[in-house]
Amino acid sequence: MRVYFDNAATTPLCEEAIEAMTKLMRDHPGNPSSIHADGRKVRSAIEQARKTIANLIGASIGEIFFTSGGTEANNMALNCSVRDLNVTRIITSPIEHHCILHCTDKLEEQGVEIVMVNLDKKGHFDLDHLELLLSDKNKKTLVSLMHANNEIGTLSDMSRISQLCEMYAAYYHSDTVQTVGHFPIDVSKTKISFLSGGAHKFHGPKGVGFVYINGDNMVKPMIHGGGQERNMRAGTENIYGIAGMAKALELACEEMEQRHQHIAGIREYLKNALTENFEDIQFNGDADGEHLYHVLSVSFPPSPKSDMLLLNLDIHGISCSGGSACSSGAEAGSHVQTALGTDPKRKNIRFSFSHTNTKEEVDYLMEKLATIIPVRVKVV
Ligand SMILES: Cc1ncc(COP(=O)(O)O)c(C=O)c1O
Repeated sequence: MRVYFDNAATTPLCEEAIEAMTKLMRDHPGNPSSIHADGRKVRSAIEQARKTIANLIGASIGEIFFTSGGTEANNMALNCSVRDLNVTRIITSPIEHHCILHCTDKLEEQGVEIVMVNLDKKGHFDLDHLELLLSDKNKKTLVSLMHANNEIGTLSDMSRISQLCEMYAAYYHSDTVQTVGHFPIDVSKTKISFLSGGAHKFHGPKGVGFVYINGDNMVKPMIHGGGQERNMRAGTENIYGIAGMAKALELACEEMEQRHQHIAGIREYLKNALTENFEDIQFNGDADGEHLYHVLSVSFPPSPKSDMLLLNLDIHGISCSGGSACSSGAEAGSHVQTALGTDPKRKNIRFSFSHTNTKEEVDYLMEKLATIIPVRVKVV
C-alpha cells in the first residue's frame, strides 16, 4: 500500500484534466499562432482557458498570462515591478518560498532595498510593522507576502494587506500558489497588483501556471521572440498544460466547499489521533486558526527514532515531506523553521492532503508511526 500525504508538494492529476489534455493532443495538431483552421482551433482552446481562469478569480482576460508554473509567475511579478514600475524597495518575509527569496537576493544585488516584515511564532505577518514600514513613502514599494505558507500552512490576511498597500500607494504581490483552487480568490474585490498560480497544486499538470497582472500595471515583455501572450512571454504555448490547468481549476472551484469539508475532516482526524497517541506532539503554524486546511505540520519531540522519520515513513509506503517540496526527501533544515525560531532538535513532518485521501489512510499512517516511534502511552 502507498499513501500519498504530500499534496502541498504536488497533487495527482484529475481525470478531467487528463481528458482535456489528451483530446487536444490527439485531435489538434495546429500551432496556435498559425492562421489556418488547425491553428485557430488551438488558439481558441488557449483563449477559452484564459477566460475560464480569469472568470474564476474575478480578473479580466487580458490580465492572465500563462507561465511555466508558480516560480516563473513569482519571478515575473518581482522582476517586472522593479524593471518597469520603478519599484526600489520590496517588503517581504523570511518565510516566503525560495522562488521569492532567491529572486529578492538577486534584486538586492542590483540595488533594490529588501526589507523583512516581522513575524509571530505562528508565522503571521505583523501588520502593524508592515504599516510602519509602508508609512515611509519615499521609495516606490512592492509588498510581496504569501497568501499561505507552504511548509507550516499559516494564512495571511490578504484583504488587510491589500488595504494597507492601497493606503500607502504600494504595489501588492501575493504568492497564492498554495491557495488558488483551495480558497475563493477574487481580485475584483481584493485589490492586488500581482498573484501567481501553479496548476499542479490543484490537480492540474506540472510545469504550467499563470500570473495575474492587474491591468493598471504597464509591464514589458519578459521573454522576447514571437508575440505570444500578448508579447509578454514569447514561445509556442504549452497548450496541453494550459487546457489541463483550466479544467482542473474549474473543477477545484466547483467542488471547493465539498473538498474543503472532506480534507479538513481528514486533517482533524490525524491531528486528534496524533495528540491522543503520542506524547509531546506539537503542531506548527496557526494549526487551530488561520491555516491551510490541507496542511498539518507536525513537530515530533527529539529522539533517535524521529531523526529518520521521513525515510522510515517512505519505507512503510507513506509519502510526506520534511518541509517544502524542494527540500522534501532531504533532511536539510528549513528556512521557515529557522525564521520562526523553532527548536532545531525537534523533527518536523508536513502531512498534506487532497480530496482523494481517506481516514483509512490516516489509520494506516498511525499504525506505521506506532512501529517507528513507540512512545505511545500517555501517563495521566
Ligand atoms: C508557496 C509556493 N510558491 C511557489 C511554489 C513554486 O511553484 P512551482 O512548483 O509551480 O514553480 C510553490 C511550490 O512548491 C509553493 O508552494
